[in-house]
Amino acid sequence: MTPSDVKATLSFSDGSPSMELPIYKGTIGPDVIDIRKLYGQTGKFTYDPGFLSTASCNSTITYIDGDKGELLYRGYPIEQLAVNCDYLETCYLLLNGELPNATQKSEFQARVTNHTMVNEQMQFFLRGFRRDAHPMAVMTGLVGALSAFYHDSTDINNPEHREIAAIRLIAKMPTLVAMAYKYTVGQPYIYPKNDLSYSGNFLRMMFATPCEEYKVSPVIERALDRIFILHADHEQNASTSTVRLCGSSGTNPFAAIAAGVACLWGPAHGGANEACLNMLEDIQKMGGVAKVGEFMNQVKDKNSGVRLMGFGHRVYKNYDPRAKLMQETCKEVLMELGLENDPLFKLAMALEKIALEDDYFVARKLYPNVDFYSGIVQRAIGIPVPLFTAIFALARTVGWIAQLNEMIADPEYKIGRPRQLFVGAANRDVKPLAQR
Ligand code: CMC
Repeated sequence: MTPSDVKATLSFSDGSPSMELPIYKGTIGPDVIDIRKLYGQTGKFTYDPGFLSTASCNSTITYIDGDKGELLYRGYPIEQLAVNCDYLETCYLLLNGELPNATQKSEFQARVTNHTMVNEQMQFFLRGFRRDAHPMAVMTGLVGALSAFYHDSTDINNPEHREIAAIRLIAKMPTLVAMAYKYTVGQPYIYPKNDLSYSGNFLRMMFATPCEEYKVSPVIERALDRIFILHADHEQNASTSTVRLCGSSGTNPFAAIAAGVACLWGPAHGGANEACLNMLEDIQKMGGVAKVGEFMNQVKDKNSGVRLMGFGHRVYKNYDPRAKLMQETCKEVLMELGLENDPLFKLAMALEKIALEDDYFVARKLYPNVDFYSGIVQRAIGIPVPLFTAIFALARTVGWIAQLNEMIADPEYKIGRPRQLFVGAANRDVKPLAQR
């Protein structure tokens, strides 16, 4: 953090002494006012529910310019990474700060593939769930349970433990997601096959059966890999902040990532891809494109409680760059599968067109986000709707780990402990039961 020459002065209208606050500059993006000494010097807290104006940490990993619609991983634009790199290269970049050279890439790939199997005991743990359990309920349990199996990687303060936990989590997430799926449909688990790519292996574990050979389609493999890249990290969003806060207590990495999975599940966050696809299917049942106007009226009616899922973002006040790339992938996948006339894709395009021209959306700067098209791609690939958010969790795991490890390695790291403005009852006496 570079100190700025400019200082902020906080003054009070009641004559209390004013306070000078240091300002720090980042490489790009807004400066921050350092309020750490505020409570000590003034006895006051800042108040910012939802963190609208609060930087919770400093980070070198991901940068978003919400007004421009720009997303950078370690300085590289997402558009370039999506076209020139694969997911494991992106993982290496997020974890280590630089893209790998050819040797580093193959070493990293070998390390990850070496850890793709999960302890056989996990199968029996999985059996405790109902077959119709939501995959995110199962994933929260399975990821948390990893800490019961890999005792040699649970010390968050040991850099070697953190490193091996990172590799294990990246390697095992596809295996766990595929196991959760196979369990739901009552098919045998398919073990990883390490001569396949990361996404090719995942597709095989999902869709192969022991009765016949499964051939990975290169177009689908590439599309899935792109979904993984686009979801790999996104700065201090709700689940990442959850992972940081959870990890700040010194808990083990598997437990911290399980907390991230639980947070991601919500429909305002990762659950939006599932909610968006369900929304498109509901409109389709109502009459499809012809009913878009009627649906939009409901969205704009504040009393209806209906939102256009896959639209809007706390940070992006412009087109989410991931949504553009996802739309491209969506077209490619539908073409490959002969589904170019897919009614849900047509419906999504119609909704997007209307929303981008409508005053309600224009005034609020609401644009499609990554979840608007990702559901259509995943559904076309054959991934069941309730599994969408688990795929997001799989892809985001690397971001969560990179952010967690960055926090632990930061000399300024402390347990996260927000304060509050207390507005409840002040000190009062308990009355005996008969007098209450
Ligand atoms: N449909 C209709 N109106 C909306 C929408 C939407 N999708 N999103 C925001 N608005 C309106 C909202 O009603 C409010 O209007 P007003 O100023 O008149 O009260 C205004 O826009 C600002 O909304 P907000 O809820 O204060 O904004 P936020 O930054 O707190 O919420 C959001 C961001 C993503 C939760 C929200 O846009 C939303 O609920 N979108 C739909 C869910 C979704 O697609 N989530 C995925 C986000 S991207 C992937 C991820 O991060 O996981």
